Amino acid sequence: MKEFDNYIGVFDSGVGGISVLKELVQAMPNEHFLFYGDSAHAPYGDKDPQTIARLSGDIATRMIDSGCKAIVIACNTATSAAAEQLRTTWPNTPIIGIEPALKPAARAFVHGRILVMATAATLKLEKFHELAVHWGSNSEIHTLPCPGLVDLIETGDLDSRAMRTYLEEKLGPYRGKVDAIVLGCTHYPFIKRQIAYVMGEIAFFDGGEGTARHTKRKLQEHGIEAPADQKGRVVFRSSIEGEGQRELYERLYHLPLY
Ligand code: SIN
Repeated sequence: MKEFDNYIGVFDSGVGGISVLKELVQAMPNEHFLFYGDSAHAPYGDKDPQTIARLSGDIATRMIDSGCKAIVIACNTATSAAAEQLRTTWPNTPIIGIEPALKPAARAFVHGRILVMATAATLKLEKFHELAVHWGSNSEIHTLPCPGLVDLIETGDLDSRAMRTYLEEKLGPYRGKVDAIVLGCTHYPFIKRQIAYVMGEIAFFDGGEGTARHTKRKLQEHGIEAPADQKGRVVFRSSIEGEGQRELYERLYHLPLY
């Protein structure tokens, strides 16, 4: 018996994946989840793809060695840089990634103006270009790399003066000029309220719910769902040791998303 037998391993560069974890738990309350935040190495978005793939591979190896039956890459940057490699390494384990929710945004706002906020790495990698070509042809797509934003969210102080200044500088020029915002980094759903403060009434799209649906389907396809009467549990782990980090993860897990 291994420590995390039959758990679903969920990982991110840091706290962002907790926004996806919330959707996963809501969709599959009877599953056990192991969440791992690589906060010691956050952000991934300004690292090169080889480094991101190596960090992701190390985390997935530990999760699978400790018994996880499926892996959710709850990080847009790591999905773009590492998902294919992980699937090749573990062809029999469901490895589910996340992508910027351009598809639902483009469907809801045909001919609309859509702003995609993400890390520079996500916007640069091939996967995003394929998405933009496929789903963006009828919409006006604006991409906004947000270096430094993940670091601000990792502090856990979502209402800091630095956060307000950052968002005003980045988003102010788009106020009244876009119809929807795609949150293309799993950290960003935690600051929807702060983004709306700058942008006013605006539609948000993120990939969390779609990823949860996809994960559920994959477990069914592999016949590895938890028994219906199992009471699911969530375990938090981080590459930063200490009670403070654990408390931050749990606080964000219980934070209602705007
Ligand atoms: C990052 O670590 O830079 C961002 C994580 C993400 O892309 O979701």
